[in-house]
Amino acid sequence: MNKMNCDLAALLFDEFRIQSRVREIGMQITQEYKDKVPILVGILKGGFMFLADLCRSISIPVELDFLAISSYGKEASSSGVVKIRKDIDLDITGRDVIIVEDIVDTGLSLQYIKEYLSKHSPATLKTCVLLDKPAAHKIDVSFDYVGFEIGNEFIVGYGLDYNEQYRNLPYLGILKEELYK
Ligand code: IMP
Ligand code: MG
Repeated sequence: MNKMNCDLAALLFDEFRIQSRVREIGMQITQEYKDKVPILVGILKGGFMFLADLCRSISIPVELDFLAISSYGKEASSSGVVKIRKDIDLDITGRDVIIVEDIVDTGLSLQYIKEYLSKHSPATLKTCVLLDKPAAHKIDVSFDYVGFEIGNEFIVGYGLDYNEQYRNLPYLGILKEELYK
């Protein structure tokens, strides 16, 4: 029994469910970009596990890069303030770029990232998010690829953290409210 399980109110998606959805998205990207070499930009840190699985489900050549933005820190809700902590290394001008993000809550981070990367004039810029909390959006955001739509619970595991922990859980779970409220 994993010690971290005690901090979960419930399991949200198990490994099997995550892997099968990630494979579907990978196949869709493979078809839609079949004559291209897209650049997948993973948003650190939360998107690292999703990106690792997603890129292995894509069977055309891709290039990988990472962008790190400031996180909530110990808070479990968005400040709306986003800072770049690590910039991309590749030149994305004229390239087909897909942003790979773990979760969208208010939508403010993704909006910021989209605007930031747009300034580099990519040929196309799409977004791929594993989890979306539609009821939490504070702005009108849309995505090209979405893993699962979920409620307003706070989720950990599969890359997602609370106070830097739980990222190594191989599945997604709902964190007990008393641990962050
Ligand atoms: P937004 O700017 O409010 O959309 O927040 C997006 C970022 O906040 C995500 O990339 C996550 O890093 C973090 N976040 C939002 N909701 C959760 C959650 O339920 N669990 C863990 N991190 C979250
Ligand atoms: Mg994130």
